[in-house]
Amino acid sequence: MPRPNRGYRCKECGWTTAAFVGRCAQCQAWNSLEQFADSRTPGAPRGNAPAAPGRTMLLSEAPDDPGTRLSTEIEELDRVLGGGIVPGSLVLVGGDPGIGKSTLMLQAAARLANRGTRVAYVCGEESPRQVRMRANRLGVGSAPITLIPESSLDAALAAAEAMGAEVLIIDSIQSVYIEGLDTRSGGPAQLSEAGARLVAFSKGNEIGTIVTGHVTKGGEIAGPRLLEHLVDAVLYFENAEGGSVRVLRAVKNRFGATDEVGVFEMTGQGLQSVENPSSALLQTHDADASGCAVTAVIEGSRPLALEVQALAVPTNLASPRRIASGLETSRLHLLLAVLARRGGINTGSMDVVASVSGGMRLRDPGADLAVLAALASAATDRPLPRATGYLGEVALSGAIRQVQQVQRRLGELARMGFTRCVVPDGTPPVEGMTLTTVRNVREALLRLDG
Ligand code: TYD
Ligand code: MG
Repeated sequence: MPRPNRGYRCKECGWTTAAFVGRCAQCQAWNSLEQFADSRTPGAPRGNAPAAPGRTMLLSEAPDDPGTRLSTEIEELDRVLGGGIVPGSLVLVGGDPGIGKSTLMLQAAARLANRGTRVAYVCGEESPRQVRMRANRLGVGSAPITLIPESSLDAALAAAEAMGAEVLIIDSIQSVYIEGLDTRSGGPAQLSEAGARLVAFSKGNEIGTIVTGHVTKGGEIAGPRLLEHLVDAVLYFENAEGGSVRVLRAVKNRFGATDEVGVFEMTGQGLQSVENPSSALLQTHDADASGCAVTAVIEGSRPLALEVQALAVPTNLASPRRIASGLETSRLHLLLAVLARRGGINTGSMDVVASVSGGMRLRDPGADLAVLAALASAATDRPLPRATGYLGEVALSGAIRQVQQVQRRLGELARMGFTRCVVPDGTPPVEGMTLTTVRNVREALLRLDG
């Protein structure tokens, strides 16, 4: 490997690293790193200068315990993290501005600090007064959190290290910058360099670090997505337009399951973990409206009941609109095509809108039949039967296929008061639930009126 021609070099032993760390990984000296930039052009031969040897260790000398996780005592956050904060890990929490990232971070920081964990909170985005006011509102104004009102990343990291932080929160990555890097704060060069320094810092100091980052609806390229491959875990905060339910989802996690979700509600006293997410997701369910179908999906380790809503109205447009929120537009197109060809319900002269309750994103094909039922109900403007759920994967042939973990899904629907479910042929019976088995779309449509 060619030796980097810029980065940080230990004054004591000459060890080099691309990213700043507080302690030399080779000679363990503190604060011995200084920035260097060799004048040779990148890739040019290095002459005879011997490279400083890198660190070596026997595999058997490497620690083999997973390390103790720090619980944030916020059940839904711990769940998504995979059981708490792993020391030395770097976690990115992304989401739209105003969704509640800072609120969640402050609540987690307060719980940790109140239990004696040393927490450093870099508030580059807000003034200490604003953070204090928010903390008061959350009822945690006296939590022993150390604020670092710095926007220089290196200065903030040095301060966190000096106070012996065990958990470091940076709110937000866009609000800190690296001195000497001659580019826009929040721009790609700044973000990737900041990410690299943070990885080295949290690993080198065994500090559990969480950074927040704004992602705009367009998912702009220079955003935190750049950091995704660098960090250990990526959590995204999502919500439905206007709703108070917030869903935190792990899209990457080196220390836990991905697709695990945490469900919160934004209240006057901050974010509260939702103990019964299915009930929160079904709170807007209107059994008497056409176009509404309930299903259960498996999100991470648990089943969640949710509602698919569809609306279909006649249009004069030559190419009618197809608007999907919470599911892929391509999936909507596919199911509309199946509905037309296999079920004889044609929406070719209608605008169709489909959405999923609570800001959830449907990734689970087991919800296909519910989408199809909602679309059929919307197109014919006839409400679906009450207290009925829909489970099944829909094939292009119109066949309704088995779904995974069907028992757990049926159990969740039963718990939510559903007494009947339309399911694929061959589904084993479940107590307290009447199953209507169907083999294909045509059979399913015949059952939509009860
Ligand atoms: P915030 O955490 O600042 O969002 P982000 O950091 O993701 O940009 O959340 C701001 C929103 O949350 C704002 O609209 C006010 C609302 N909020 C509450 O409803 N209750 C509360 O207790 C707090 C602190 C904020
Ligand atoms: Mg914020």
